[in-house]
Amino acid sequence: MCSRGPVGERPGPEKWVEDSYWNLKPTWKTQSGKAVERFYNILKECRELNNKAADIIAKTERTISSIKRLSDARTVTLIPGDGIGPEISEAIVKIFEVAEVPICWEERTVTAIQAPSGKWIIPPEAKESMDANKIGLKGPLKTPIAAGHPSMNLLLRKTFDLYANVRPCVSIEGFKTPYSGVDLVTIRENTEGEYSGIEHVIVEGVVQSIKLITENASRRIAEFAFEYARNNQRSTVTAVHKANIMRMSDGLFLRKCREAAENCKDIKFTEMYLDTVCLNMVQDPTQFDVLVMPNLYGDILSDLFAIFESVHGTAPDIAGLDLANPTALLLSAVMMLRHMELHKPAKKIEIACFETIKDGKVLTKDLGGNSKCSEFTAEICRRVRDQD
Ligand SMILES: NC(=O)c1ccc[n+]([C@@H]2O[C@H](COP(=O)([O-])OP(=O)(O)OC[C@H]3O[C@@H](n4cnc5c(N)ncnc54)[C@H](O)[C@@H]3O)[C@@H](O)[C@H]2O)c1
Repeated sequence: MCSRGPVGERPGPEKWVEDSYWNLKPTWKTQSGKAVERFYNILKECRELNNKAADIIAKTERTISSIKRLSDARTVTLIPGDGIGPEISEAIVKIFEVAEVPICWEERTVTAIQAPSGKWIIPPEAKESMDANKIGLKGPLKTPIAAGHPSMNLLLRKTFDLYANVRPCVSIEGFKTPYSGVDLVTIRENTEGEYSGIEHVIVEGVVQSIKLITENASRRIAEFAFEYARNNQRSTVTAVHKANIMRMSDGLFLRKCREAAENCKDIKFTEMYLDTVCLNMVQDPTQFDVLVMPNLYGDILSDLFAIFESVHGTAPDIAGLDLANPTALLLSAVMMLRHMELHKPAKKIEIACFETIKDGKVLTKDLGGNSKCSEFTAEICRRVRDQD
């Protein structure tokens, strides 16, 4: 046997066979040649088997880690919604899978159903799922005009007493908007105010609509705002009101905000009239941090159950065309992860999303690009994977 490798280094089996072959006497070479060829074929097969085994081991390891992850996973109700809802929801499910988020989805449809009593309700399967999971991600739901039933969004709000409507508004690097450096959150009371739906005709031609403000609802939204500020490293809460005109109703709301502020001395508290906020908002929105307000004002400007949703509608003009931008639902899903204290995957997905927009190469049409929803989603998935 001849070894041409450095001293102490054993040649691999193929090299050993090759070296041995060349060192054979010429007359032995023909017969040995066949044996060497057979040996090479066996080695080739072994190598292929080895690659297959490595592949199976890697897949098994991935499956075991998914099983481990899902055994600790929490279940979240997914309401894909109407129009572009199913497309953008599919994008979020894909990105979450790549980011290995420990969540199991329970998909439910939400349509209006009339109970025997005549009352409009959401489907019992959707209600049961939310009752059990306490947390949901929802795509947009269409509100057909003159459908004969109340808005599904309103029905969901009432069914689960979703009293706090939290809307962050953040400038995204790389996407030019009239203002940069904006990072504010509006927190709107979601159950009463002018939207209580208490209206009646006093006499023909005169309609009265009641603005309902209660101590309980005002207290819980004020306390929620301060708790939100504290949990999200925010420094200031501003109460938005018109207590100069609506002394009793907005006065009560403001009083509850002041009381909540008394118990949260680490967060700065300011008060501002709605019209002043509107003016300042268009002049310089960067000055605001967390704004808390009654229902109607929140609509103008901007716990038991939590449903996270994108701010836009069903976009019927582009539904089914793979053109929708899933960012709003994805960032709502990121908020949901933070609410569930899953900060690591939340950060990972948020970085991948913002970097995709900043890079500007793969953007949906509404962001000035030419990419499809699926291509934008694939780019975010790639950036999530790259962080591993
Ligand atoms: N939260 C909700 O469920 C919600 C909110 C608003 C409207 N709606 C409902 O949605 C339906 C349509 O409402 P609308 O037309 O007034 O508003 P919309 O937000 O659906 O559409 C307005 C415009 O924005 C575009 N757009 C919206 N979302 C987009 C996305 N993700 N990517 C790219 N483009 C997007 C649409 O193509 C359209 O041109 C109505 O039935 C309405 O009641 C539901």
